[in-house]
Amino acid sequence: MRLASLFLKNYRNIEECSIELSPRLNIFIGDNGQGKTNFLESVHLLLQGESFRYGTNSTLIQFQRTSAVLNTFIHNNDLDFKVQMQISESKKEILLNGKRTTQLEKYLPPAVLFSPESLSIIKESSDERRQLIDDVIRSIYKNGANVISDFKKALRTRNKILKDYRDEKVSRDMTLQTLESINPSYFKLATELTCLRINSLTEIKNDVEIYLKKIDQKNSVNFDFEYIISDQKITENSLENVHKILQKRAIELAAAELSSGITLVGPQKHDVIFLYNGNDSRFFCSQGQQRSIILAFKMAQIVYHQKVHGFYPILLLDDVLSELDQGKQAALILALNEIQTQTFLTTTDVDVLKKLNMDQSQIFKVRDGKIVQ
Ligand SMILES: Nc1ncnc2c1ncn2[C@@H]1O[C@H](COP(=O)(O)OP(=O)(O)OP(=O)(O)O)[C@@H](O)[C@H]1O
Ligand SMILES: [Mg+2]
Repeated sequence: MRLASLFLKNYRNIEECSIELSPRLNIFIGDNGQGKTNFLESVHLLLQGESFRYGTNSTLIQFQRTSAVLNTFIHNNDLDFKVQMQISESKKEILLNGKRTTQLEKYLPPAVLFSPESLSIIKESSDERRQLIDDVIRSIYKNGANVISDFKKALRTRNKILKDYRDEKVSRDMTLQTLESINPSYFKLATELTCLRINSLTEIKNDVEIYLKKIDQKNSVNFDFEYIISDQKITENSLENVHKILQKRAIELAAAELSSGITLVGPQKHDVIFLYNGNDSRFFCSQGQQRSIILAFKMAQIVYHQKVHGFYPILLLDDVLSELDQGKQAALILALNEIQTQTFLTTTDVDVLKKLNMDQSQIFKVRDGKIVQ
């Protein structure tokens, strides 16, 4: 599955642009601030329904305009279909062959992003690490995306109930009654998501280690993880055990939830620790080693996706090669060559081109939001 073409109108600094894409490597090259990442972002938007950058719909629409249009033709074996996204200030509308749809992920390959920011996730907040794992869940489990979105919905509902109590809009008795009625479904989803996270990490762990060895060019590297609920490492990943732990925590934190007006128990509070040779990578790894872990993690996600679905995700590499030392660059390029999936890459550096296998590649020179010769 791949994108055959891309058409953008009134999107970021791109007024109007139509390009035919290579099935393998698409390189966007140009100086800083010209629009390279904007092109990558448009692919992410079309495939994932959202940007990887912070902002609202209006940040995506070109200054002085009221809407943006993004189009692509997806080529899937003998089947071509058109995906169109229309962005206005209030909404993003997605059309599949001209018809409105919400369940696009059923038809589209996912995109996996490598960016300088994503490479520094280990030292960022636990939220970023949870996001990393939830991406794997969406990618490898059929019901993954649904469990995540159902849980988020249940969490929003529960938070609203607690907030209304804290804001003195609803009585204590009424609040406790409502909580009692929604808690079973909330904790069921919280347990399911927690177990999916631990399962997915367990499933890709070996592949992460394989790629870590390649990237760090060391055979002795060992990778593991710990899933942490309220400072406790989870050792038994059964639905029953996780449910019990969450319930126990809910009783301990019931008073605190009422006074803070927010849900304090559930996967939105959990953490994942990556262990590099048995040590917590947040504290014991160099920045370079932390990057290796994320690179290896993403490579493992990609190969695991292929094992499950029979095709690779589409890769988006935003300025990452220049962030890596020679060894890591070579390992990543080798992996890209092995994987042979459609890849979109941005760079400011022409020297990067010399290192890539340019078979079936397409180079787009980006200047001021336009593709130039
Ligand atoms: N909504 C918008 N309307 C018009 N221009 C915008 C909009 N949002 C961002 N831009 C412009 O897009 C340009 C940035 O594009 P982008 O981030 O793709 O650059 P880049 O080529 O990736 O640069 P770098 O090499 O620094 O990463 C900036 O000039 C910015 O002002
Ligand atoms: Mg950029």
